[in-house]
Amino acid sequence: MSASHSSSLLAYCRPGFEGECAQELAALDAEAGGGGYARAERGSGLVEFVATDAEARRRLGAGASWRNLVFARQILEVLASARDLPPRDRLGVLLPIVENDARRWCDAWVEAPDSDAARELAALCRGLNAALIAALKQRRLIDRASRWRLHVCLTAGDAAFLAAADVAGTAPWPGGIPRLKFPRAAPSRSTLKLEEALLVLLDDGERERWLKPGMRAVDLGASPGGWTWQLVARSLHVTAVDNGPMDAALLASGLVDHLRADGFRYRPQRPVDWMVCDMVEQPSRVAARMAEWLAQGWCRCAIFNLKLPMKKRYDEVQACFATIRNALDDAGKRVELRAKQLYHDREEITVFARVV
Ligand SMILES: C[S@@+](CC[C@H](N)C(=O)[O-])C[C@H]1O[C@@H](n2cnc3c(N)ncnc32)[C@H](O)[C@@H]1O
Repeated sequence: MSASHSSSLLAYCRPGFEGECAQELAALDAEAGGGGYARAERGSGLVEFVATDAEARRRLGAGASWRNLVFARQILEVLASARDLPPRDRLGVLLPIVENDARRWCDAWVEAPDSDAARELAALCRGLNAALIAALKQRRLIDRASRWRLHVCLTAGDAAFLAAADVAGTAPWPGGIPRLKFPRAAPSRSTLKLEEALLVLLDDGERERWLKPGMRAVDLGASPGGWTWQLVARSLHVTAVDNGPMDAALLASGLVDHLRADGFRYRPQRPVDWMVCDMVEQPSRVAARMAEWLAQGWCRCAIFNLKLPMKKRYDEVQACFATIRNALDDAGKRVELRAKQLYHDREEITVFARVV
């Protein structure tokens, strides 16, 4: 068995997007003056970013908060990585490392990445999690008021990263995945995408302030109505734009106007609070359209999907952000952009934009 200490960060991402996640961390590291490098195996759902030293990791960690990262579902500070863990006493290796750290922990999560290979570790994670919490309590290392959470990321039955998360700057869900229950009355599964976007891209206070009953929204590419359903559930009035049919029960709510029109041409007669867009189109075309809505002041907030191309996906995302920022710049306005590849996103990311 062996355990080595490190000055790296660990990010969880959608399997297959390790390259984009690594590029994003490398760009932030370069901005912070670091010279680190990423280690990632394709399909693993994990990226380890090795900073040049502890100070470079601190600088990178300050910029690479979970909220600022598009491709990372979670970002952790690695304490150590361990290999050849004995199957009967994994904690015997991990606990001394934890005891060596001065921190106490508000909680401890044992997780596995979201990869096919790691899925079979779920039962082991649960068992080990219970044993870890019991051992930490016994050693008085649990303090519910602590800002730090302990993570064990099992990459195999005998290998793990031991890591720390600052609760304020990290995802509040194991694996970085909010587990949402499909609402039976919703007309399509993509309803979960907008629900997750509102949960991940806005905080509690913002959801309360910016999504109020009686507000007006436009849903571009709305059929059959999964996204509209989320807005109606929050008592917003929605203009649903799509040549396809809308769910009958949703129309019967009295809160939805269905317009059979082209979402790339439609413009509202007066400004609305929200515009959401799930039209499947080239990302550059969607970005240009979103930029127009925001620059013209047709909506205050927007949530939209950008489908990613097969190659140069990171570059495409940056180009789309630049399109939006430049258009708003030209209009003398500033836009706040937040984006994430959500758990319910596949080859796409979801963006929240707001004129500030
Ligand atoms: C992924 S589906 C939307 C699903 C919807 N968000 C939901 O939750 O049920 C994409 C929709 O975009 C619509 N669409 C594509 N191009 C469009 C356009 N130019 N104008 C309006 N709707 C469009 C399609 O008809 C399709 O219904």
